[in-house]
Amino acid sequence: MTSPLAAVVLCAGKGTRMNSDRAKVLHPILGRPLAWYPITSAFELGAQQVVAVVGHQGDEVKKQLAANFPGQALQYAVQAQQRGTGDAVAAARGALTGFNGAVLILYGDVPLLTVDTLKRLVAAYNPAKGALAMISCRLSDPTGYGRVLRGADRKVVGIVEQKDATHEQKLIDEVNAGIYVVESKFLWGALEKLTPQNAQGELYLTDIVAQAAKAGEVAVVEAPPAETAGVNDRAELADRAEVIRARINTRHMRAGVTLQHPASTFIDAAVEIGPETVIGPQVSIRGECEIGANVTIDQGAVLMHTTVGDGAHVKPYSVLEEAQVGPKCHVGPFARLRPGTVLEEDVHVGNFVETKKARLRKGTKAGHLTYLGDADVGAGSNIGAGTITCNYDGVNKHETVIGSNVFIGSDTQLVAPVRVGDGAFVAAGSTITEDVPNGALALSRTPQTTKEGWAERRRKVLEGLKE
Ligand code: UD1
Ligand code: CA
Repeated sequence: MTSPLAAVVLCAGKGTRMNSDRAKVLHPILGRPLAWYPITSAFELGAQQVVAVVGHQGDEVKKQLAANFPGQALQYAVQAQQRGTGDAVAAARGALTGFNGAVLILYGDVPLLTVDTLKRLVAAYNPAKGALAMISCRLSDPTGYGRVLRGADRKVVGIVEQKDATHEQKLIDEVNAGIYVVESKFLWGALEKLTPQNAQGELYLTDIVAQAAKAGEVAVVEAPPAETAGVNDRAELADRAEVIRARINTRHMRAGVTLQHPASTFIDAAVEIGPETVIGPQVSIRGECEIGANVTIDQGAVLMHTTVGDGAHVKPYSVLEEAQVGPKCHVGPFARLRPGTVLEEDVHVGNFVETKKARLRKGTKAGHLTYLGDADVGAGSNIGAGTITCNYDGVNKHETVIGSNVFIGSDTQLVAPVRVGDGAFVAAGSTITEDVPNGALALSRTPQTTKEGWAERRRKVLEGLKE
């Protein structure tokens, strides 16, 4: 097919069976709203214009779709009242003024159709022979769907909806998937002729099929039912999400990522992963994460909106959110990197370490039991076990700045705002409330007293009392 392509994606329905305050097409699957999937397919197919028809919660649907297609030419049309699928497509006419070519019609709640199947549909469309190509599929239980009506010569003559079908028509197992490619001029003309004279009092888009059959030949592409299945309730949402999850996992494995247990791996649609990366069981990688090459992410780690550099190692059960982990860093096990954490190269953050708005520069180590919040730590420093930045005074947050090659002894509290200069040394157990100059030693603890033989004497006294 050489004619230009536009797409209309129907997203106006309420989705009553979702039992939800949220519009159906906005329910997320792997970090993207349901409607993102068909809209993305339309763009991938090369549609030069894509129009989402919104209605129920239209403003919210528009807003969230716009956030998911930044900079992309997604257009919107509003269907004020849900008067049927024909009326919904007609709502897109204004947005496609001046467009001449083939219009692909998709449903916002049918996420599994592959680009390959849509390419077959577009290839079957031949405006020289007929104005419309459609997708059908065969179902062992066709209840609820529109049935494809064929004449004695097996050519398609029209579609009849379940509620309008005769007993004989209900026995037909070839159903209408609701996905079409239609010649634009024919489409607008055919939509004008629709009437609500049917069992549901709606303007049926399906009625344009009979019109196309009268004027020419309707092309039909059969698709596997697994691809044309939509989402009507949350159980179906979970089923479709499962298929998409497996597809995403397979795509990464084919591109050179090892998933040790794909059945328990959740990777969102937007995630990018470099080759030779190994991902353990029960790992979740959510939102817009970018994972480098040769990275290891061990069992149970959860990453959200996080970047991980080449060769880094995220050990089991670490939780990373809006963090940047540089190349060759080691994180965890059981580390928690909160928003604003930046680990530069070769940084080690060990077990039970929590960071928030903290930059740890090259080669720095915080191995155990530490909280670093609103902190900037220079290169090559060592943060001892149990170090706490006291960043919050009950009203405001304050910054702790630690220079490079600093040694912070174990169990130190750094009461912010406070600075520790390059090469300084803070003795274990100190509470640092004043700035420490470069190269200095700071300690704040009671000098040790030792009483020879005290413990032995005490034991004897207590034993004497017991008798
Ligand atoms: C439709 C087809 C049916 C087909 C089935 C496949 C019609 C008349 N029937 O039936 O032949 O077998 O899809 O799933 O087209 N929508 C709007 N505005 C409206 C009405 C619907 O945007 O006014 C959207 C819905 O949100 C949904 C899609 O269009 O995404 C399909 O609508 P729905 O009411 O589910 O159509 P079906 O009755 O399933
Ligand atoms: Ca439906």
